[in-house]
Amino acid sequence: MNNLNNIDEILAKSELNFDDMLTLINLTKQSDLEKLYSAAYATKTKYVGKKAYYRGLIEFSNICVKDCYYCGIRKSSAQERYSMAKDEILAMAMWAYKNNYGSVTIQSGERQDAAYCEFVADIISEINQATNGNLAMTICLGEQSEEVYQKWFDNGATRYLLRMETTNPSLYKKIHPNTPLHSFDNRKNCLLTLRKIGYQIGTGVMIGLPEQTPEDMVNDILFFKENDVDMIGMGPYVVHKDTPMGQTADDSTFAQVARFNFGLKMIAITRLLLKDVNIAATTALQALHPLGRELGLQAGANILMPIITLQEYRHKYQLYDNKPCIDDTPEHCKSCLTNRVESVGDKVGFAEKGDPPHFLKRLVA
Ligand code: 5AD
Repeated sequence: MNNLNNIDEILAKSELNFDDMLTLINLTKQSDLEKLYSAAYATKTKYVGKKAYYRGLIEFSNICVKDCYYCGIRKSSAQERYSMAKDEILAMAMWAYKNNYGSVTIQSGERQDAAYCEFVADIISEINQATNGNLAMTICLGEQSEEVYQKWFDNGATRYLLRMETTNPSLYKKIHPNTPLHSFDNRKNCLLTLRKIGYQIGTGVMIGLPEQTPEDMVNDILFFKENDVDMIGMGPYVVHKDTPMGQTADDSTFAQVARFNFGLKMIAITRLLLKDVNIAATTALQALHPLGRELGLQAGANILMPIITLQEYRHKYQLYDNKPCIDDTPEHCKSCLTNRVESVGDKVGFAEKGDPPHFLKRLVA
């Protein structure tokens, strides 16, 4: 069935259907994979250009109220906790601004208490003022009330990344504790609320979770399309040994390679279907392969998230084992990544916010 002609025919289509995507996600032969990635790279070139944009990643606290079974900073983990001071966070954002990063991503463990929400609101307005609104901020702080989302938006945040983790509700239940804090429906509603407020919205999933099927992955991509998202941040599941999932998940080289390849195939198929959105080549790809992010760019991604978290905190924000760059400085990450981007023939969009054409089209529509 998966003969070359069939794959050529699928890749020549302007709109893929479920079966086409299922064929593509199941490809394993290197020559087929190369066809898939070069088709996705051509789509990226046509719709968003051969440019990679940086979102400097600020991981300002690992305190988390959630207990997700896969995550290294889950509430029950023995990880020592930290929370940065306002001036440290502002200094990192200014570093990004002065180094011509068009945007930063502000991430932490999840909290909903009022003091935290106020703290974040202040950070957002201080960064906005200090950069005259010229540094785009992506907020990646989980599920919040509509009022909080609105306040952060009013203070100057324009983009929100809320990964669904998986779009299959029954798989979602298996990878989270069964409590109201970990509700699939609430997470999905949050995404809809963010859209209503006017954020550029991003979502994503983990790829290669135990019990996740290729059909689930295709449905994830269809979910991105149906919910008209502007950006995608997704990456392979990477085992963290001190978590309930990490203790039982297959972490053989074979399993790691399969997850990595599914990660690249997901990027490529998402690019082919959604075309003009932003797609990140995430750090998790590099945790499984030294050239993970370059290969992500070649498979159709156009966003990189260099970690700019101060070095002293990096080893405490380990969502998974072997997280790369934890011994690096922001300066090192910048030059290392820029070389990586140029090695695949792309350019870095320095000093540009890098809004996805998909979002800009909606603004004028
Ligand atoms: N492997 C890969 N990604 C993970 N995340 C959390 N734990 C892991 C893991 N073990 C991702 C989740 C979360 C993001 C901040 O990190 O998708 O949304």
